[in-house]
Amino acid sequence: MKSTKETAEEIICKYLPEEKGYPSTVASAINYSVKVGGKRIRPILMYETYKMFGGDGEVIEPFMASIEMVHNYSLVHDDLEAMDNDEFRRGRKTTHVIYGEGMAVLAGDGLLNLAFETALKAFDTKGADKERCIRALKLLGEKSGLGGMVGGQACDVDAEQKKKQIDIDELTYIHEHKTGALIQASMMIGAILAGASDEEIEKISEIALLVGTAFQIEDDILDVEGDEKLIGKSVGSDERNNKITYVTLKGLDEAKKDAREMSEKAIELYESFDQENEALKELILSMIGRTN
Ligand code: IPE
Ligand code: IPE
Ligand code: MG
Ligand code: MG
Ligand code: MG
Repeated sequence: MKSTKETAEEIICKYLPEEKGYPSTVASAINYSVKVGGKRIRPILMYETYKMFGGDGEVIEPFMASIEMVHNYSLVHDDLEAMDNDEFRRGRKTTHVIYGEGMAVLAGDGLLNLAFETALKAFDTKGADKERCIRALKLLGEKSGLGGMVGGQACDVDAEQKKKQIDIDELTYIHEHKTGALIQASMMIGAILAGASDEEIEKISEIALLVGTAFQIEDDILDVEGDEKLIGKSVGSDERNNKITYVTLKGLDEAKKDAREMSEKAIELYESFDQENEALKELILSMIGRTN
């Protein structure tokens, strides 16, 4: 997995802005937020799904960078004082702590735009299939926006602001959108660009939603019982913000059980494909019961 992570990192860094001229501070804030690390699971999931369906071109690269950019912008904004008010991420100070709130807002805005500027570069890669690129771009927009990550984050903030006693259905909506949607975009874009059939893309969408939801349940668990050194962010952030999470609704044991069941269901669906990719299967399994 390490070499895939390193490859993903190199690809992402290739598209980051130069820190020069009058707006160099915002470029520096963008680069800080991206370069401090992270698991890079979204570009890796995209790449492995692309390979699974026989993809082997360069067209995947701009999309790998773009999904990590959208994810990074969501983290920079999520950590702001106006949202989760967190001071640590990936073992370092959060972007707004170093650069100030205004610059962190703009770094997030800049990253979101850069994500689409970068994804558009896919059209210039050798042998790019234009129809597939357009479909992938549409999906990137949908899953990042109101019907995806932003929609989920908005419900999360709404519940917190109104001190609303949400139930498991609403929490599932939040998890599926704030986190599931970008995991879906990652895997579905990999499948689309490799030329998978509609039926295959639909099944990937289902698998990714299970994986993404289980991943957020794990994140809620780690916020309670994780090791700060390993997760690289402050433990207890959800409690401090009085968040209703999978753990507060169902308890730790039930949360662990549900996350495991969801990923087992994802693997079961995955095994019904003719194509195989051991690395992808391992990655999906490793996302559950993780320590970081
Ligand atoms: C953190 O995502 C936010 C969630 C959606 C759970 P990751 O756990 O993928 O964070 P990094 O990218 O590895 O830092
Ligand atoms: C946020 O969920 C998911 C995003 C879309 C950024 P959390 O607020 O639980 O993520 P962390 O724990 O800060 O990484
Ligand atoms: Mg949050
Ligand atoms: Mg947060
Ligand atoms: Mg969390």
